[in-house]
Amino acid sequence: MSDLSNKHIVLGLSGGIACYKAAELCRALIKAGATVQVVMTEAAAQFITPVTLQALSNRAVYVSQWDAREPNNMAHINLSREADVILVAPASADFMAKLLHGRADDLLSLMCLARPIDRVPLILAPAMNREMWQHPATQRNMAQLKADGTHVLDVGQGEQACGETGDGRMLEPEEILEDLIAFFQPKVLAGQHVLVTAGPTYEAMDPVRGITNLSSGKMGFSIARAAREAGAEVTLVAGPVHLPTPRGVRRVDVRSALDMQAAVLKCVDAASVFVATAAVADWRVADVAGQKIKKDVSGQLPQLNFVENPDILAGVAQSARAQSGALYCVGFAAESHDLLQHATTKRARKGVPLLVGNIGPATFGLDDNALLLVDAQGAKELPHATKLALARQLVAEIARRLHSA
Ligand code: C5P
Repeated sequence: MSDLSNKHIVLGLSGGIACYKAAELCRALIKAGATVQVVMTEAAAQFITPVTLQALSNRAVYVSQWDAREPNNMAHINLSREADVILVAPASADFMAKLLHGRADDLLSLMCLARPIDRVPLILAPAMNREMWQHPATQRNMAQLKADGTHVLDVGQGEQACGETGDGRMLEPEEILEDLIAFFQPKVLAGQHVLVTAGPTYEAMDPVRGITNLSSGKMGFSIARAAREAGAEVTLVAGPVHLPTPRGVRRVDVRSALDMQAAVLKCVDAASVFVATAAVADWRVADVAGQKIKKDVSGQLPQLNFVENPDILAGVAQSARAQSGALYCVGFAAESHDLLQHATTKRARKGVPLLVGNIGPATFGLDDNALLLVDAQGAKELPHATKLALARQLVAEIARRLHSA
C-alpha cells in the first residue's frame, strides 16, 4: 500500500515563482498513490502552464469559475466534494489574504470557501519573499487562518528567487509530501513526548580507529517518524548514521555509548515514552589512546582492555518516573534465533513493560523487518513489512497500552 493510496487531492496553485516546484509535487503525490486534480489561479498560469500540470496529473486542469466543461457549471462544488484534502501549494500572500476574508472571486478561492469545512481539510504551503512573509499583515492573516481551522505548513529558509535570503521559500516537494502523509495518520500519540535512541554507537580506540556495529538506524528513525506522524513531540538521539532527520523531529547526534547515555538522561525527564532501538556497544576501550596507535615493526600487537558500557535502557527503566508509570519504556532485542525465548528473558532483565524482538542479521541495513512484541500479556507478531509500516503499527500498539493503563 502506498502512503496516499485511495486519497484524492485537489492541488491548488496560486501565483508565485514556487509554481515550478508544484510540478514535482504533483508527480510525487501521484507516485505516492494519490489521484490529483489541479486547480490554478490566473496568476499561477503566468508561472507554469496548465498543459504541464495536465500532463503530470493526467487530468484536465481547471482555472476559471466560468469553465463550461462541468455539466452543472459548478466546478467549485463538484471539485471540492470529491476531495479528501485541498492542498494549496504555493499559497501566495495575496491568496492567503483573500482566503482569510472569505473572498471568492476566482475558482480556487471559491472552491476553498465552498468546501465542506468538516470533511475536506485545507492545507496551505506558503511561498513568498521574506519581507512579505514577515509583514505583520501576513503573520496576522496566518494566525487567523489557523484559528479558522486551516492547516498552514512551515516555510523553508534560504536563498529566494528575488536574490534575498530568509524565511518564506515554499517547502521542497518531498517535505510537503512527508507533511501530507503525516497529516492523514491518526493522532494516537497527541500530547505525548517520545524519546527514541537509534543507530549504532562508535567506541574510539584512538583518534582514527574505533569499534562499531552494523545497525543502520532505519528502524529507530522510522519509529521517530511514526511517533511524530501520530502527533507526539519527538526527540531522536542518533548514533553515527547518515539518515535524513524525519520532519518535525528534534535530533541529537551522539557518537559513543556514554554520549548517548548523557543525551538520554538530559531529555528523559520531559518524555512520557522511551523507545530504545539503538544498538549500543556492550563494551568500550578502557584507555583510549591520545594519539594514533602505530603498527609495531616487530609485529607486536596492541593490547586493548575493555570496560562494560552502562545499560541505558535498564537504567532508565529503573528510574522513579518509569516505575510509577509516568514514563513508558520499550526495549528492542536483535537476536539470531529463539526470538520469543530471548525477548521474554530480555524483557524481564531490562525491567520494561514492552520488549520488541527482531532477527538482527535478517534486517540490518534493510528497509524491511518483522517484529515480535512481548509484554506481560504474551507475544504478538507484526509480520514482515517495511520498517515504516511496522513503526506505525508499533506506535499504535504503544498508544493502545498507554490509553489502557
Ligand atoms: O542487552 P541488549 O543489548 O541485547 O539489549 C538491547 C536493548 O537494550 C535495546 O533496546 C538497546 O537499545 C538497549 N541497550 C541500552 N544500553 C546498552 C545496551 C542495550 O540502552 N548499553
